[in-house]
Amino acid sequence: MADKKKNNYVSKDNLGKNVSKNKNAKNKEDKELKEKREVEKDTSPKDIILSIKNASYRYSDAEEDEYALKNVSFDFESGKLYAIRGRSGTGKTTLLSLISGLEKCTEGEIIFDGKSLKDMNLDKYRNSDIGIVFQSYNLLPFMTASENIILSMDANGLKIKNKKEKAIELMAKVGLKASYANRKVLRLSGGEQQRVAIARSLSYNPKMIIADEPTGNLDKQTETEILEIFKKLAHEENKCVIIVTHSQNVCNTVDKIYDLKKVKEID
Ligand SMILES: Nc1ncnc2c1ncn2[C@@H]1O[C@H](COP(=O)(O)OP(=O)(O)OP(=O)(O)O)[C@@H](O)[C@H]1O
Ligand SMILES: [Mg+2]
Repeated sequence: MADKKKNNYVSKDNLGKNVSKNKNAKNKEDKELKEKREVEKDTSPKDIILSIKNASYRYSDAEEDEYALKNVSFDFESGKLYAIRGRSGTGKTTLLSLISGLEKCTEGEIIFDGKSLKDMNLDKYRNSDIGIVFQSYNLLPFMTASENIILSMDANGLKIKNKKEKAIELMAKVGLKASYANRKVLRLSGGEQQRVAIARSLSYNPKMIIADEPTGNLDKQTETEILEIFKKLAHEENKCVIIVTHSQNVCNTVDKIYDLKKVKEID
């Protein structure tokens, strides 16, 4: 009886342990569920800054069935670095023209920050939400680095007290010393010019940066340095950075790669 009591006691104790074990398991389950929900929340549509929905594009001088892009659907999140990859003629530059609102989709649509580009003032969009970086830098060669950046501030109607100070601050962000501010672009290396071009694209603090083969004219070491800047802008400043590229080095660095295929290969 004593044994039984003891057993009872023991079994009650075990029961207690089981209850607390079950409770722990339940807590763990709840915690895991909560974490899972949080992960899901992290990738919820509110983080998608740009959504390309079934976009097709045909240049006005093209034949009726000659599309430069056909049924492209890509999503892009803030805080991430993307590559758009594809052979020559697959429509990468065309896609960037659509994203930047320079061209309008023939079919489908592009949603930026929850709003269709069709319903937006595209000049305002280009002058405040999106920074563009080109393969050949597109700087004015006879002006200084800071003058090029200030020109962009002026073009975008920014009201900043000390524009030169701001330009130097942006240059520091891309690894250029203040002494470069007064140097004519003509006297900068390709890598330095691309840094100035990135600083210029940041002058109005856009949410998104798109770059068309930004490292196409650079050696691998300089490419890696430029990629580090883009990576920081995405991961530390929560910008969405989209790079059109042929480079494996770029593809190895980004968070996600989207492939574009020739329209004929799709059909
Ligand atoms: N302004 C234009 N008018 C008519 N067709 C064009 C125009 N620009 C591009 N295209 C055509 O659209 C297709 C896609 O061109 P796009 O320049 O977007 O390709 P890409 O992927 O950027 O190529 P690359 O890697 O060589 O830069 C090509 O067949 C091209 O001839
Ligand atoms: Mg191109």
